[in-house]
Amino acid sequence: MNDIAIREIDAAEAEARLGELAAILADAVAHGASVNFLDGFTPDEAAAFWRGQLPGIADGSRHLLVADDGERLIGTVVLTKAPQPNQPHRADIGKMLVLERARRRGLGRRLLTAIEELAAAHGLTLLQLDTQTGSAAEELYVTSGWTRFGIVPGHALTTTGTPADTSFFYKQI
Ligand SMILES: CC(C)(COP(=O)(O)OP(=O)(O)OC[C@H]1O[C@@H](n2cnc3c(N)ncnc32)[C@H](O)[C@@H]1OP(=O)(O)O)[C@@H](O)C(=O)NCCC(=O)NCCS
Repeated sequence: MNDIAIREIDAAEAEARLGELAAILADAVAHGASVNFLDGFTPDEAAAFWRGQLPGIADGSRHLLVADDGERLIGTVVLTKAPQPNQPHRADIGKMLVLERARRRGLGRRLLTAIEELAAAHGLTLLQLDTQTGSAAEELYVTSGWTRFGIVPGHALTTTGTPADTSFFYKQI
């Protein structure tokens, strides 16, 4: 998978490739990932989600990294700077997604490493994220030096509507 590029894309490219970004998000939900949406989530709704990210990508308050196999986008991760004036050093990480068919080949870890490096290059020193307790993603964060600082019981529903626990993580970089 070394021929797959991990790179930042700007708002114009994200808008032009909205369908590919939407397909990655819809694929994750269809395979049961707890990423804010429920079963029945449509590609149009996924495209609307990404459209909502575009202004932040354009104004620099968000950064979008993708995994690009040369033909299509197959993974994403988003860094969102904390909006609070007293937290200029902090950001949240989200939409860490790899197409189901491309998983377990190191792309998730490459995306995570790249977004941490990008955050550091922007002067950020504290990152936070959360994920469904017991998920593959949790294992990725635990094995990438992130600290789990708590679990909230029943914090979010699974895609099929069952309450599930959420693990909260931070990393000082
Ligand atoms: C989480 C996700 C991005 C990982 O992507 P990936 O490309 O498969 O990850 P990698 O191949 O780089 O694996 C990195 C590590 O994650 C962990 N991991 C990944 N998949 C796993 C699984 N199915 N079960 C247990 N651990 C897993 C392992 O620690 C793995 O390291 P190893 O391969 O040395 O054992 C991917 O599973 C995904 O898109 N999941 C659905 C969306 C989601 O839940 N995103 C997180 C939202 S916070």
